[in-house]
Amino acid sequence: MQKVSFTKMEDGTAEDYAFLDTLEDQYKAALPTRLIETLKGLSAGLSGYQISRLDHSLQGATRAHRAGEDLELVMAILFHDIGDELAVYSHSEMAAAILRPFVSEKVYWIIKHHGVFQMYYYAHHCGGDRNIREMFSGSPWYEEAIRFCHEYDQNCFDPIYDSEPLEFFVPMIEQFFSAPRADDAEELARYGNRA
Ligand SMILES: [Fe+2]
Ligand SMILES: [Fe+2]
Repeated sequence: MQKVSFTKMEDGTAEDYAFLDTLEDQYKAALPTRLIETLKGLSAGLSGYQISRLDHSLQGATRAHRAGEDLELVMAILFHDIGDELAVYSHSEMAAAILRPFVSEKVYWIIKHHGVFQMYYYAHHCGGDRNIREMFSGSPWYEEAIRFCHEYDQNCFDPIYDSEPLEFFVPMIEQFFSAPRADDAEELARYGNRA
């Protein structure tokens, strides 16, 4: 199997990096497959709720789809808790980072902060401040973040809701995550994303 010539990146050649570019393009193209597999992993994990995080995510995405929300929001909801397994102290930020190249600044912001907005529904039972979300009241997306949590997150723990299965969303996932937003390509090109 072909490999690069270097053991230190500073010694790499143009040929090495052209070769890696090809492999990385293939790797990026398989992102939807990895997202789907990771989402499936949310069927285990946090216990105690009436449904798994996978079913919670499917329920939110189904409610949004049935309400006629656009694909961007449906996908954001489907993956809003994708960081639960590893980012146990910062799951909102992990999900936002994954979604970042594919969604608008607004949806990125909502996902990044959804954990704080969710506190409105439970923090007063745990010695916290349910109104902590008000620190974001100056944001142009404050009301939409409230709506996001109210309609597609805090209410999506119902074991008898007839959610669509993951298979229903697979074609949407494959299309939506096939390429970053065109208007974002220039900024993404400036990201140091190799190693
Ligand atoms: Fe969450
Ligand atoms: Fe959630």
